[in-house]
Amino acid sequence: MASARADAASGPDHRNPPMSANAKIVIAHRGASGYLPEHTLPAYAMAYALGADYIEPDLVMTADQHLICLHDIHLESTTDVEQQFPQRARADGRWYAADFTLAEIQQLNVTERTKTDGTRVFPGRFKADAQGFKVPTFVSLVELVQSLNRETGRDVGIYPETKAPVFHDDENLPIERVLLARLAEYGYAGRHAKVFIQSFGFDNLREMRETLGSDLPMIQLISHAPAYDALVTPAGLDAIAQYADGIGPDKKRIADTDGALVEHAHARGLQVHPYTFRADQLPPGTPRLEDELRQYYFDYGVDGLFTDFTDIAVEIVHPDYRARLHPR
Ligand code: G3P
Ligand code: CA
Repeated sequence: MASARADAASGPDHRNPPMSANAKIVIAHRGASGYLPEHTLPAYAMAYALGADYIEPDLVMTADQHLICLHDIHLESTTDVEQQFPQRARADGRWYAADFTLAEIQQLNVTERTKTDGTRVFPGRFKADAQGFKVPTFVSLVELVQSLNRETGRDVGIYPETKAPVFHDDENLPIERVLLARLAEYGYAGRHAKVFIQSFGFDNLREMRETLGSDLPMIQLISHAPAYDALVTPAGLDAIAQYADGIGPDKKRIADTDGALVEHAHARGLQVHPYTFRADQLPPGTPRLEDELRQYYFDYGVDGLFTDFTDIAVEIVHPDYRARLHPR
């Protein structure tokens, strides 16, 4: 463990405390992905304009070790790689970003997400034959947010996720080291930096905290899969509190416990940022996204949440910020 981290961990204030009601945050999940193709600069810019507090890029690495903003280690669900590079699939029939250079990936066009049968995941979203959307580099996202911050005087943060850390290790792609290097180059430093690093990896954040010596804010993601059950036990939360600043659970984990998970995390100084809230994918019996968001922000008391519809969440927790697009 880095010495700075050891000092920080010894005191009760080494993590940001749970946020007050007016400080609850809106995390733009893959940008304003309810309105524009996910993980594109237009989607990030729109999320910024809609009032997001943090903008989320999922990150994977190219063959030449550039960080790109992409949800999957594969390219075919959100790009036209199959048409442009028909011979570059692996034996499993999938096109891996790790097999392409950045220059090659920048030739691709990003479209709305499709399933393996070619149908759209969210049929009501942006038109399928969109043109001009590209896979951004992480650096281009950071420069977009920092430039807009300078212009507007706002202080919007970034919320990068290291995708598939075991896969990247197996491919000899040092995603954690490169992420920390880029963040340092762009001035993100210390435990109050306007960044949260997130990961579903069981050892990934601990590696960045203890082996690589980062003291940046970190969020342990917790899926609804049984493999993650141990992380929400008292012992699991105690362990997370040793290296992370909060948890990012599947929202069903909070509903499953009628909010008790939030209390248990807060008792350990951990923030709680559940995912993912969508107006076009509501839970049964919930007619409007607003209702679901209020339940999680105010009944369960979460500190922030990931949503595809930044404007709707902003209207709830930052009502003075005026920008709303989604029809009532
Ligand atoms: O990272 C938390 C949230 O984004 C949910 O995960 O699968 O959309 O990256 P995913
Ligand atoms: Ca993510």
